[in-house]
Amino acid sequence: MENIVPEETIEEIRQHFNLVEVISNYTALKKSGRNYSGLCPFHSEKTPSFTVSPDKQLYHCFGCGVGGNLYTFIMAIENLTFREAVTLLAGRAGIFLPEKPLSPGEKKVKDLKEELLLINEVSMKFFSSVLFSKKYGIKALNYLKGRGLKGETLRKFNIGYSPSSWEFLLRYLKNKGFSETNIEKAGLIVRRSRGSGYYDRFRDRIIFPIFNQQNQVAGFGGRVLEGAQPKYLNTPETHLYNKRKILYALNHSRSSIREKDEAIVFEGYMDVITAHQEGVENCVASLGTSLTEEQAEVLRRNASSVVIAYDSDAAGEAAAWRGMDILVSAGCRVKVAQMPQGMDPDDFIKKKGIKAFEKEIIEKSLPLIDYKLEKTQRDLGVLDFCTPQEKLLYIQKILPVLAKLNSSVELDVYLQKVSSQIGVGLDSLQLELKKFRRAKGKKQIKFGNTEPDGSANNQVKPPAAEKEILALMLKNPDYIFEVKKWLKDSDFCYPPYRGIIEKLFYLRNDGNAISEHTILRLFPGFEEQKIAAALILEQERNPDNREKIIKDCVRKIKCHKLSLKRKEIEKEISKLDRQQDGEKINGLLVEWTEIKRLEKDFNPQ
Ligand code: UTP
Ligand code: MN
Repeated sequence: MENIVPEETIEEIRQHFNLVEVISNYTALKKSGRNYSGLCPFHSEKTPSFTVSPDKQLYHCFGCGVGGNLYTFIMAIENLTFREAVTLLAGRAGIFLPEKPLSPGEKKVKDLKEELLLINEVSMKFFSSVLFSKKYGIKALNYLKGRGLKGETLRKFNIGYSPSSWEFLLRYLKNKGFSETNIEKAGLIVRRSRGSGYYDRFRDRIIFPIFNQQNQVAGFGGRVLEGAQPKYLNTPETHLYNKRKILYALNHSRSSIREKDEAIVFEGYMDVITAHQEGVENCVASLGTSLTEEQAEVLRRNASSVVIAYDSDAAGEAAAWRGMDILVSAGCRVKVAQMPQGMDPDDFIKKKGIKAFEKEIIEKSLPLIDYKLEKTQRDLGVLDFCTPQEKLLYIQKILPVLAKLNSSVELDVYLQKVSSQIGVGLDSLQLELKKFRRAKGKKQIKFGNTEPDGSANNQVKPPAAEKEILALMLKNPDYIFEVKKWLKDSDFCYPPYRGIIEKLFYLRNDGNAISEHTILRLFPGFEEQKIAAALILEQERNPDNREKIIKDCVRKIKCHKLSLKRKEIEKEISKLDRQQDGEKINGLLVEWTEIKRLEKDFNPQ
């Protein structure tokens, strides 16, 4: 689906714009040397580390590591898919987008989605007019006012009311010409189990429209006025509504989230609405589920820090814990707000005011690790660790949490903290952790998230030769075919690079020059774009000596790969030795000698 617009048009649109001008609309840029620099629009900073290269039409932030070209920039800053970015820019450039005709199947889905969207919009207006009607809305309106919501808030969030009737909405929509089949597909009516026909899904409920990232009404949440069950009823999964992807109120919160570089995640609609009404706007709600990878990705694209502010009732704590780990994996800094017992954020703000909420709850939220340590202690029901049993139990429970820390500084800080907290020596804690990691096989090298410079953030740097040769190819794409003669993508050990190399090696040599932008288009993911842009924008150290550099790097990379292989064999042999498996050892020794010979060939000193 991604490539319906021809490559030439994508390139034409890109060349129509000057990236420096485009980015100037989002942040002030100043000329510095050959490049322009300014404050990064993707994270908050005081000194400019965001660079735009007018020659290459690429950008890169040395602070937070983002980078890419026109499309990456627009996608990230406007939160669009590639397709949407192309459409938007084509419109601005006045370039006609020739579309490949949709297949009959694709056309059907597209038409259906448009119809469902229309049904949702019409229904949203219907619910809202019912809420504000004298005849049907008084009770609901009083309920909402009773909960402290102002008229303007109700309008801002398009809140409505579904009357207490089985077919009110159904009849209204049918009158407007919509078919029962489609209204059912929008999730608004339910087929009767006995007899024929349908009835309204939402009856006598406050209606919260739920918008997707394109700012379309994707579905609804409906809350009972009093007591009945279930408290909330939501649109089922439809062609428009996918609760894994949606964050409630993101449409109203995005700009504030970006500005503060922090998002608050609540559990409930009401928490978000109240916070907004009182002036804290960088908040969204997950929709009654624990956070998904998709939602985490959206949050990460908008802020580097996320505060989880869930109700204090223990109900969802396990789910919340899982959601937090997902956020960490997505690259967010996670903090956890501590709500007083039995209160949700909505209650708190109403009782104590928004200032208190900011000062006592948000500002005092705990870094994830502190929260986990604290919660573990709380779950054990131990106030101070007096008995050896208590200490042992606690250590057992927190080792998995500590073992996840990749930064040795952080680890050190927390080990010291635990050590003084429970009165156990630092050495013994370190020993326990080592044992735990060994048992878990955790010692293996981990290639995790990458730092701005494309290196791993957990101490493992990419092998220098891999970095050098990759940078050389990215800057001079013609050399890709030269390198390809010598190396396979599997020769690269550093996984983030291997993925990039794999794509570069896909390129076919048709004799035409390849631009950096064609290259960037090979990487649909932000992570790879980021690494590529950073490497492209680095100064080339020795442009006159590319052949020699390639030769050196190829040799080093081959050697590195061979030495890894050799070490593996050595390990195998030493294991076998104990079991006296002579034949196998001989086979391995032959292999080992061959590798040694190859290593020597590559390193003829
Ligand atoms: P809460 O029960 O905390 O709701 O559920 P709330 O938003 O604070 O609402 P009030 O203050 O009681 O009116 C948190 C979220 O979980 C989902 C909803 O998204 C809700 O906002 N939920 C809850 C459901 O989907 N179904 C339910 O039956 C209950
Ligand atoms: Mn709640």
